[in-house]
Amino acid sequence: MATRLSVNINKIATLRNSRGGNNPDLLKVAADCERFGAQGITVHPRPDERHIRYSDVYSLKQIVTTEFNIEGNPLEDKFMQLVLDVKPEQVTLVPDDPGQLTSNHGWDTIGKADYLRDTIATFKRAGIRVSIFVDPVPELVAAAAATGTDRVELYTEAYASNYHTDKDAAIKDYIAAATIATQNNLGINAGHDLDLHNLNFFARSIPQLLEVSIGHALISDTLYYGLENTIQMYRRKLA
Ligand code: PXP
Repeated sequence: MATRLSVNINKIATLRNSRGGNNPDLLKVAADCERFGAQGITVHPRPDERHIRYSDVYSLKQIVTTEFNIEGNPLEDKFMQLVLDVKPEQVTLVPDDPGQLTSNHGWDTIGKADYLRDTIATFKRAGIRVSIFVDPVPELVAAAAATGTDRVELYTEAYASNYHTDKDAAIKDYIAAATIATQNNLGINAGHDLDLHNLNFFARSIPQLLEVSIGHALISDTLYYGLENTIQMYRRKLA
């Protein structure tokens, strides 16, 4: 099975918000992403609503026909409530601070084991699949299994930044982490800084990879290739 592509549309909301109106139209872009081949739509609302607004998430739920994935920090009550109201196919739990520019670390699945177990159980009782963001560290991935999560999302920033220097070295920790995840019956997603250059090698090296969520590079590439071509180009990297 080819890895599925979920398009993170946060950047579209950032562009819209910069002028205060509704251009670009986030709902239209989400629907067009799906029409052009996206197999999922990802959003990452943050408490300051600087890109995706909480109200966007309710509106998107009405029109997304592929997999809807909401990312965020469950320490925010508002986030918990949003996800439980909207009931997306998947929630991805990320331990980011409220004002953080972008996610920059995975969960401490050992130190936060009890908290994660309780939080994940709440989402699973509501019928929502759970994925948690983790660094590719064997002990942290093994401990993720004990939290009851369905999947882990491997944080690929380190892979992406080392890819051009030595791709075999860059992928090593991820293959080890993926092996441990599979041994523990965890599904594997991945995301952060994946792009047209580094995506295919990552997906080929980790055949168990179920899904990638990609925002920044993909939306940037649309400036040159257009939305439809870009999505198809990313899909081909995963074929
Ligand atoms: N996964 C998580 C948990 C993220 O926070 C982000 C960025 O919002 C991504 C994936 C996508 O990263 P990028 O925008 O670099 O493709």
